[in-house]
Amino acid sequence: MIFPPVRRMSVDAQRRNFLRTAGAAAVASALPLAPWSNMAAAATQEGFTPDVEIELVALPDELQLLPGRPTGVWRYAGRVLKGPADALQTIAGSYAGPIFRLKTGQKVRVRFKNQIPQPSIVHWHGLIVPEQMDGHPRHAVPPGGEYLYEFEVRNRAGTYWFHPHPHELTGTQVYGGLAGLFLVSDDEERAARLPAGERDISIVLADRTFDAANQLVYEGAMSGGMMGGMTGFFGERILANGLPSLSFPAAAGAYRLRLLNGSNSRIYRIVRSDRKPLIAIASDGGLLAAPDTRPFVVLGPAERAELWIDFHDESAGSRIALIAEPLDFGGPGMGMMGGMMGGMMGQRRGRAPQPAAPQPFALFTVSRSGDRQVLPPRLAELAPAIAARELQRREFAITLGHMRWGINGRTFDMDDVAPDERVRFDDTEVWEFSNRTSMMAMPHPMHVHAVQFRVLDRLGTPPGLHGLRAGFLDGGLKDTVLVLPGERVRVLLSFNAFRGLFLYHCHNLVHEDMGMMRNFRIT
Ligand code: C2O
Ligand code: CU
Repeated sequence: MIFPPVRRMSVDAQRRNFLRTAGAAAVASALPLAPWSNMAAAATQEGFTPDVEIELVALPDELQLLPGRPTGVWRYAGRVLKGPADALQTIAGSYAGPIFRLKTGQKVRVRFKNQIPQPSIVHWHGLIVPEQMDGHPRHAVPPGGEYLYEFEVRNRAGTYWFHPHPHELTGTQVYGGLAGLFLVSDDEERAARLPAGERDISIVLADRTFDAANQLVYEGAMSGGMMGGMTGFFGERILANGLPSLSFPAAAGAYRLRLLNGSNSRIYRIVRSDRKPLIAIASDGGLLAAPDTRPFVVLGPAERAELWIDFHDESAGSRIALIAEPLDFGGPGMGMMGGMMGGMMGQRRGRAPQPAAPQPFALFTVSRSGDRQVLPPRLAELAPAIAARELQRREFAITLGHMRWGINGRTFDMDDVAPDERVRFDDTEVWEFSNRTSMMAMPHPMHVHAVQFRVLDRLGTPPGLHGLRAGFLDGGLKDTVLVLPGERVRVLLSFNAFRGLFLYHCHNLVHEDMGMMRNFRIT
């Protein structure tokens, strides 16, 4: 069976979904070569000599994920055409990946081929690349189309990722399996001498619902009806790299564990099964200045965290798991939020998120004693974030109108840039994301392209949610920040990399696909 399944969609929604997809493809293929394929016209940039060249194909496939029938998925298949073979790492038996492994300063060329039956385009989440390379929906290529990427890796070492970004279909395609990590290393990271090789583990968490025939079920912006789009999509099972759980025979040493929340809507609280604290060493945009010990880590959609997990004082045979506890806002599965959010959620209507059980997603069995590895007290040069008074300030209010989420009352328009969405190249600004709509209380993971920003402060956190703040890695570089209901989160951004048209949006992919996204222009 081919993804996407339509089992739970209404007939009307199926028709709309089909018409949109087919319509977009028909329009695109009626155009001459240009804007949907830059391959033929541009070929390659003058003077661009890639260090690494990769072919990346989005294609339908079937995988044995559960006992019984194989599951229809969409996934990326990658191949190194030039450069070191270990620039790509595949995850056996999984739709997740492949994992890119590159170094700061390397020039990369990616030949993207779209072989799924919908328009698509790749966005390099967290990487700072020129406008034409950023995967804006207006660059989506139709089924059979190709897109050529050429860029230099400018970001510092960190755990970035890539996923599709086509108009109204991002959630469907990510859910189908199209997402991979993009790991960058640099000299500063090497100097920190973090666990490497087998002790550098990457895990993408994501929730999925399967039907009785083991096929993926998705109710996105179009298929879930207007009400479904208000909350998002919440899968019944939490998977790690597309699998129910991962086991590691662990030496009694230290591990570097990279985590991405690749879910469309679900938020997790990450804890150790023995309730020992977690030591965070990196956030979205790379290493923190110093290790940061937390009782738990909260990850909203698209956020990353890197943990230092140390087993040196565990005896051989101990079993320790990392657990992803779903944090659900509203509905029967709301768990710890239940009592706290009661009042605010009173006005909530519509389909309740489906509950998911806490999932021990990584199981470590300490098998032998290992070398004691010392946690470096300093990890990276990262100045404290301070906003000078004279900086330009903007407010981006999360709004709800006509049953659609918006930003400052607006929804996505392919080319539109409002006057308050124009920023000057090289400026540093303070943006405030405020989540104070009285209509419906829910968190929104706000993401900005073309920058890595710093979180200045969180104001107005409701007392009932204050406890969650212990799990936010707000001290590091960020490209996505979870804004809780009632909060105003202020971030500091410098637009000093590229001029052009870029996106900012909610990374709850159901919200994004329904239009909770806008352009901004750097000129
Ligand atoms: Cu991860 Cu605009 O996206
Ligand atoms: Cu949202």
